[in-house]
Amino acid sequence: MEVKTFGVIGAGQMGGGIAQVAAMSGLQVIMNDIKEEFVERGLRNIAAILAKNVEKGKMASETRDAVLGRIKPSTALGDLAAADFLVEAATENETIKFKLFRDLDSICRPEVILSSNTSSIPIGRIGAQTKRPDKVIGMHFMNPVPVMKLVEVIRGLATSEETFKTTWELSLKFGKTPALANDYPGFIANRILMPMINEAVYCLYHGVGTREDIDTVMRLGMNHPMGPLALADLIGLDTCLAIMETLYKGFSDSKYRPCPLLRKYVEAGWLGKKNGRGFYQY
Ligand SMILES: NC(=O)c1ccc[n+]([C@@H]2O[C@H](COP(=O)([O-])OP(=O)(O)OC[C@H]3O[C@@H](n4cnc5c(N)ncnc54)[C@H](O)[C@@H]3O)[C@@H](O)[C@H]2O)c1
Repeated sequence: MEVKTFGVIGAGQMGGGIAQVAAMSGLQVIMNDIKEEFVERGLRNIAAILAKNVEKGKMASETRDAVLGRIKPSTALGDLAAADFLVEAATENETIKFKLFRDLDSICRPEVILSSNTSSIPIGRIGAQTKRPDKVIGMHFMNPVPVMKLVEVIRGLATSEETFKTTWELSLKFGKTPALANDYPGFIANRILMPMINEAVYCLYHGVGTREDIDTVMRLGMNHPMGPLALADLIGLDTCLAIMETLYKGFSDSKYRPCPLLRKYVEAGWLGKKNGRGFYQY
């Protein structure tokens, strides 16, 4: 099926990035969030990124205007009835996502693929909320979406070959490189990345090193472009905690237990870069 109108649920850091990339590839985009102020913040973020591209001479101002013109803001889930393909990028919380998929299943046409940008929740569990599990798939973009080349495509047990092919081709259309992962908690990316970040938080918790020393060791010793604590701040500490909880619950293995210090920061509302304070202050 040809995808002309692309629906995005959630206008946060990921949803905004996905909407931008889809609009830049020429698709009409509907970007939905629960409140107008969240959709407006998402649009402002996209406009600021595009303005920088124009300033640097990487994009013509007419192109910027056309890209922005293709993104339609929405606060009513019913608007998604017009979408030919959907990516859900709402908060990493099972209750929220399960309800969204039940609602979207009744709103969207039966042939529409419902994908999720979830970092860790098994696609099979999400698909089981709908009457179309063959059309449910993981389309896991990386942060920041316009910059990062990877899309991890996650096939659930019930995902059809046609759904897989359409999602793979769409990733290529967005200028990304897809990689296939099978459906286990955390898939490939966060199965490997998040325990490393969690261990870095344990190092801080146990006083093995300061935040700066922990990040310096990983940057200069392992050649990572940024340290794990700075990366946790970029991802969002609430998202990191939610992913660790999913790994811990999904595998019933204590090696995935979230560090108490990570939980303490999230409980204090220190969520990282997105709200000004995490392991570092912004
Ligand atoms: N942050 C990352 O680095 C990263 C990377 C890859 C994937 N993800 C995944 O992407 C998803 C979104 O993460 P984020 O970092 O953008 O979070 P975020 O907190 O920046 O944004 C989440 C947005 O979802 C909205 N939302 C919540 N419930 C909703 C609903 N019922 N309907 C519509 N919108 C709703 C919130 O209002 C918020 O604007 C999560 O599943 C996360 O695991 C995050």
